Amino acid sequence: MTAPSFYVTTPIYYANGSPHIGSLYTTVVADFLARYHRLAGDTTFFLTGLDEHGEKIFQTAQARGTSPQPFVDELAERFQQTWQTFNISYDIFMRTTDLEHGRIVRHVLEQVYAAGDIYFAEYEGRYCVGCERFLTEKELVDDLCPDHSVAPELRHEGNWFFRMERYRPWLRAELLAQPELIGPERYRNETLAMLSEPIGDLSISRPRARVPWGIPLPWDDEQVTYVWFDALLNYLSALDYPTGAAYGTFWPSVQHLIGKDILKPHAIFWPTMLRAMGVPLYRRLLVGGFLLGADGRKMSKSLGNVVDPFALAERYGADAVRYYLLREFPYGQDGAVSEAGLRERSAADLANTLGNLVNRLRVMLLRYRDGAVPLFFPDAALLAEGNDLVAAVTALVAEMRIHLALERIMRFVQTLNRYVDDRHPWELARDPARSDDLDTVLASLFTGLDIASILLTPAMPGKMSELRSSLGLAAAASFAEGRTVEPGTRIPVEAGILFPKGA
Ligand code: MSP
Repeated sequence: MTAPSFYVTTPIYYANGSPHIGSLYTTVVADFLARYHRLAGDTTFFLTGLDEHGEKIFQTAQARGTSPQPFVDELAERFQQTWQTFNISYDIFMRTTDLEHGRIVRHVLEQVYAAGDIYFAEYEGRYCVGCERFLTEKELVDDLCPDHSVAPELRHEGNWFFRMERYRPWLRAELLAQPELIGPERYRNETLAMLSEPIGDLSISRPRARVPWGIPLPWDDEQVTYVWFDALLNYLSALDYPTGAAYGTFWPSVQHLIGKDILKPHAIFWPTMLRAMGVPLYRRLLVGGFLLGADGRKMSKSLGNVVDPFALAERYGADAVRYYLLREFPYGQDGAVSEAGLRERSAADLANTLGNLVNRLRVMLLRYRDGAVPLFFPDAALLAEGNDLVAAVTALVAEMRIHLALERIMRFVQTLNRYVDDRHPWELARDPARSDDLDTVLASLFTGLDIASILLTPAMPGKMSELRSSLGLAAAASFAEGRTVEPGTRIPVEAGILFPKGA
């Protein structure tokens, strides 16, 4: 039997500024899922990368007095370094200026053009450079783009158009037939509302004279490919579509993670493009909320409420930041980020619950058993609870309720802490006749921490590997293994403090 496949993508971020908490958040969620599926034994592929074409990037590079290619090259390096700091285990870092990507974009354009789905027309509309798309009158709030608070420019120009409207009835029917296609549900409803009236055709080119930074159309050298048409195709070009083996393996399982501001390109443009190309629709589109400043308002420099995740990582460690983002914010909802929130969460869950238990177990093993892990049967009730936990966490992760999955795991660790309090191992240690009872307690805690640390590895890969090595265990490699200890396993005498209190 071949292992199921799992393909997860983040949006490819605009290469016009440094990574920030929004890009970090989506990337951490994707990394959690990729690591989770790898541990579950699935054949996994995790894509992130950069969106390097378009007006916004061209203008930013110009404003910095540089040309676009060196500008995006430098940002690519900065993003990759950041992902390394946060232990992001991507399989591919896509860049849309990659020549191979350009070749595939031109191939798709030719195919869709030959099929009669692309035509030339004059167009007038309101363009937001921040969104890199024309906005409809209905989308404007007080004549401004609601996401960027600027008045979109009125533009009149000749563009090539993709017959998107033609695919509206099909897309609507797909969404109605597949309730799980877009989640959480309110974004599915938002998409259905957009599809209940004409969506129009999509302008897919820009005059090169105005935007000299993009992939030229194969049949019209005066026009370059519209940045969204180019960028969305990265999800396929990464798999070497249409002939690559990776395309056959991974495409059917693809799940896209996005923020709510880019719902329309992913829920409307992308599926209709896929349909025109004859490529099956993605498996799931998962829409995340926005992280806001501590005051609950959109982060902005002028409000002074911007939280810098990199400063937090320096102070508290990358894994504490990862854990906070995953545990605190239900996926799909907006949430206010604050340093105080991170501190409280880390103190309660990481230092006082998990770190405390590891420390207690290590001290007892070293004091009572000379560091040797007892090969004893764990307490049956605790073991059953641990096994139930694996099933419960798997179900919660599949429903994208990652915060609840982590809560469940921490509740189990609390149970283990209570078990120590109830069993009074320090008294058992004083009575040689109860040595077996003490072995049961120690073996139960050890097994419990083995299970909990495997399950927490996707959230905190670095810290869990430290935790495990402080108990003489190898880094988690699979959910299937574990709960078996080599006879004679000894824990190291020295181990650093896993989660310093009050950092
Ligand atoms: N380049 C496009 C995506 C193309 S995908 C084919 C783009 N890039 S972006 O850099 O502007 O945004 C990337 C993602 O970051 C979006 O999903 C956006 O929702 C997310 N975030 C930006 N700020 C955010 C927060 N404050 N909170 C959470 N996510 C937010 O759009």
